[in-house]
Amino acid sequence: MADITTDVLIIGTGPAGSATAALLASYGVAHMVINRYRWLATTPRAHITNQRTMEVLRDLGSEVEGEAYMHASPQELMGENVFCESLAGEEIGRMKSWGNHPLSMAEHLLSSPCKMNDLPQTFMEPLLFKTACSRGTQARMSTEYISHEQDAEGVTTTCRDRLTGGTFTVRSKYLVGADGGNSLVAEHLGLPFEGRMGVGGSMNILFRADLSRYVAHRPSVLYWVMQPGADVGGIGMGLVRMVRPWNEWLIVWGYDINGPAPVVDEAMATQVARQLVGDPALEIELLGASVWTVNNMFATHMQKGRVFIMGDAAHRHPPSNGLGSNTSIQDGFNLAWKLAAVLKGQAGERLLDSYSAERAPIARQIVTRANQSIGEFGPIFKALGMDGGTDHEKIQRNMDARVTAAPEAEAQREALRQAFAFKKYEFDCHGVEMNQRYRSDAILTDGQPEPAFEKDAELHYAPTTWPGARLPHVWVFAKSGEKLSTLDLCGKGQFTLLTGIGGEAWVAAAETLAAELGLPIRCHLIGPRRAVEDHTGDWARASEIRDAGCLLVRPDHHIAWRSETPAADPVAELRRVLTTLLAR
Ligand code: FDA
Repeated sequence: MADITTDVLIIGTGPAGSATAALLASYGVAHMVINRYRWLATTPRAHITNQRTMEVLRDLGSEVEGEAYMHASPQELMGENVFCESLAGEEIGRMKSWGNHPLSMAEHLLSSPCKMNDLPQTFMEPLLFKTACSRGTQARMSTEYISHEQDAEGVTTTCRDRLTGGTFTVRSKYLVGADGGNSLVAEHLGLPFEGRMGVGGSMNILFRADLSRYVAHRPSVLYWVMQPGADVGGIGMGLVRMVRPWNEWLIVWGYDINGPAPVVDEAMATQVARQLVGDPALEIELLGASVWTVNNMFATHMQKGRVFIMGDAAHRHPPSNGLGSNTSIQDGFNLAWKLAAVLKGQAGERLLDSYSAERAPIARQIVTRANQSIGEFGPIFKALGMDGGTDHEKIQRNMDARVTAAPEAEAQREALRQAFAFKKYEFDCHGVEMNQRYRSDAILTDGQPEPAFEKDAELHYAPTTWPGARLPHVWVFAKSGEKLSTLDLCGKGQFTLLTGIGGEAWVAAAETLAAELGLPIRCHLIGPRRAVEDHTGDWARASEIRDAGCLLVRPDHHIAWRSETPAADPVAELRRVLTTLLAR
């Protein structure tokens, strides 16, 4: 007999675990979350928070979304990505980043009701955790996962209470390993991984110092420092990252992974900070220092039976592109509604297989992208003559060569401009953030081929209602005049049917099926003199269906199925669709 019984046990209160707990609590599912430490993240590792993640927070409620913006540095302060010899020294180049180029900003505004922002993990985790606990999550801190065993009915997990040293067991129907990059759950499951851990070494130095005079005129989250030796290990360059504008900072500096990890004491931290800021008299208030390794590894399957892994447990990669915590939270958004549907008897267990089918390709994609972004600093080093060798004077001469009127210098300047521009694949990579299209048994085709990407799929988001894609955002209007995103009409743990004038039979069919399957289905009929109106015509253009067709949207905003036109027997058609995708 287990000591504690619950429906879902989550290991870890990082972005993945806390988001999943907040969602399960919002969906009314009994669950418990544990963390081996007594509190949440103490260092502001993740920070770039993309629009898709903000949509998850918006789905949790306007108070959650609003609090995130309240703590975050706004997008406008993120955008002047600077490359320099030091903060006080010469600036070598600059690029608009994180949606701040006017063309990119237009794409951001058209894509989502939410704004990208810079929300350090030290704010994101407490927000998600507080949301979870206030809505019903049972949380146990200072509690360590030791092992688990699963059988046909459930999972028995052994935990250690780190305060008493005693062990206890938790019996749950499902177990979620959100236990980070050194995941024991993943190890115990023996899931298949590709790639390698520890391909580079980095040190983090967190400190307070007012650096306004070096940065306030070119606001950015990232200041890249190119000095001889900057290409060793780590993320490819020295980095001075804004944590709070402009007096709290995190320096990331590489070290050779083939040697021993450095001991970063106050003297070393001060010396590195002075070197990167370029101020030999700089005084810092050191808040912390740590070393970490750059990883290039992802799970090719994220589930075994009743046990799932998510977040860094499944995808381990450098911070390039700021995808880690974002993808972790989005893993939770994918799995939570499926667990809820199965536990409430609305879906068969096979629905859960779609989690790995949908998210493992994303794990592969983002790990590959993040590591590729490190390699893409190479052309900058090459153009500056910084690649290879340890002759610092020679490197400095190479860097200086670009300022003359010589033809080679002009060629060098052009190569450098191109190399900087190419870094948009790291610093303005909207498509990677927004273009996730799922393929699984929880998506039903309407027989249409997948629309091709007309622009670069990594850089540009391409909205479509093709089943598997995320519902496109456009603004529509409630009778009261309130402006609503199409995403606001959906989500919150429920399926939604969207149709237009002439689609009344779909609404009636959804009501029949909701009663028959015990599955709440929200319906919106969009059109003139209806509860939701499309004054701008943006929805008519985005929906890719006729007015009397319909879209069936999953609780995670992805299109489950669509019908371009009315059906002869909408009840039979919707029954076929729902029973198939819910594995009933
Ligand atoms: P995470 O590691 O955060 O949490 C794991 C949890 O499991 C913790 O609560 C831990 O205590 C717990 N745990 C582990 N083992 C346990 C056990 N045996 N028993 C009980 N509990 C256990 N990402 C991003 O999206 N944008 C960004 O800008 C950045 N920037 C960034 C900068 C730097 C310098 C770093 C190092 C990383 C980033 N990241 C990032 C990545 C981001 O920090 C990372 O992807 C997320 O923290 C992963 O969240 P998880 O919840 O998966 O794991």
